Amino acid sequence: MSIARTNATGAGGMLPELLAWSSSLSLDRQMVREDLLGSAAHVTMLARTKLVTVTDARAIREALMRMLLEVDTGKLAIPDGEEDIHMAVEALLHKRLSPAVAGRLHTARSRNDQVATDLRLHVRGQASATLAEIAALVKELAERASREGDKLIPAYTHRQRAQPISAAFLVAAWASQLSRAGDVMAFALSRCQELPLGSGACSGTSLPIDRLLTARLLGFPGVTQNALDTVGDRDFALDFTWAVARTLLALSRLATDVIDYASAEFGLVALDGSIAAGSSMMPQKKNPDVFELVRGQSGRAIGNVSALMVLVKGLPTGYNRDLQEDRRALLESGPFARGALSAVRQAMPHVHFDGARGAGALVDGSTQATDLAEALVRKGVAFREAYQAVGALVRKATDDGVWLSSIEPEVAAKIHPAIDAAALAVLDPMLAMQAKESLGGTGPKSVAAQLEQLRAHAEVLAGQASAAPTLSSLAQTIASEPLEP
Ligand code: ARG
Repeated sequence: MSIARTNATGAGGMLPELLAWSSSLSLDRQMVREDLLGSAAHVTMLARTKLVTVTDARAIREALMRMLLEVDTGKLAIPDGEEDIHMAVEALLHKRLSPAVAGRLHTARSRNDQVATDLRLHVRGQASATLAEIAALVKELAERASREGDKLIPAYTHRQRAQPISAAFLVAAWASQLSRAGDVMAFALSRCQELPLGSGACSGTSLPIDRLLTARLLGFPGVTQNALDTVGDRDFALDFTWAVARTLLALSRLATDVIDYASAEFGLVALDGSIAAGSSMMPQKKNPDVFELVRGQSGRAIGNVSALMVLVKGLPTGYNRDLQEDRRALLESGPFARGALSAVRQAMPHVHFDGARGAGALVDGSTQATDLAEALVRKGVAFREAYQAVGALVRKATDDGVWLSSIEPEVAAKIHPAIDAAALAVLDPMLAMQAKESLGGTGPKSVAAQLEQLRAHAEVLAGQASAAPTLSSLAQTIASEPLEP
């Protein structure tokens, strides 16, 4: 607490109540690993540039690496009463080493560039872990779709039955949406490629540091360009929370489909008891709570994006303490997204499409009206004429109180001569579904191509996720980096 007190404040220290209130330690202690590694890389660079002697740097680096080990084994007691994790780590260092040695770590560094570095390391780790989960779910959905065979369900527009599709096609739609969230997550990951450390408080340093060395040790391909911009930049955090929100949005829409389809009104999917919740009062209930919670959580993910946007929108250029308020929204985002991804992953195998019920919703033929019009188009009828003719036929069937699919060819021919038995055959929902082989359509060949794409896309996303360095690999790199200039 006393380490960063300068006499310039002219007071013994901040009022304890205000210090406690303004501390971010309760949240940013989650970034202790990032903070320790950032410092270990920094002191290595200070030795190499002769700003700190090799002996002092070794003592500091070893103490930091020991603390890292203690974090891993749950033994590091982070002192309360500090303003943030950076001060807490420095205070620990002062307990373990003499002030003359420990006091050299903060050379050419400010907490402003330090917190920016910790946060980037954190986001990089969280974005890559979340991306790996997204890729895994996209792949699983693709596999799931290929196992659904030709089970039929209605597609809906305006939540009205529209056209016959395969269940596989719907699952592929879910996977497509999620894969786009994966692209956004990959983008967020790519925004963590530049090291902020070395920016100092706002304008760099007069000391001859080597930022590129620190960057290499921390697994960043490059360094940020402008120190003043860097210390006030949380765009990478915004991008990450946006990617998390996009992930939750994709899951939320999938969830709505499952919730609706599991109702008695739709009856298109059945949920195993192992993922359904009961009601405390109504003995008959089997509720889709998991999916409702996923949908509900998407609201919080969206809230986190707006929290960060509102936080930065009026800030003057450079560091402002307001930025500490990024912590809650940012730190909860990664675990939050992975929690929802894993819930959906675990639940999906217990969601079963009811092919008979799906086909049953399509047998009356009305959802195949477009297919009949297209059959007439194949016979040379202009689409608008065919559309009108089929519309009239639908009307006739309704008036006669029969299904479109059971209308007699003789009756139909009176409405339009091109409507014969062969044309009427397309009212079979299975034939109608199978015939839609345009690129992106619901036909089996088209869906197989979509699944192929999704699998390939999932591979790419998984590759991007695994390319990000892990904190433990960084620890090894840093600990074995020579200190001698
Ligand atoms: N706790 C601060 C934060 O999280 C660290 C940076 C503090 N910088 C400062 N000049 N007070 O943003």
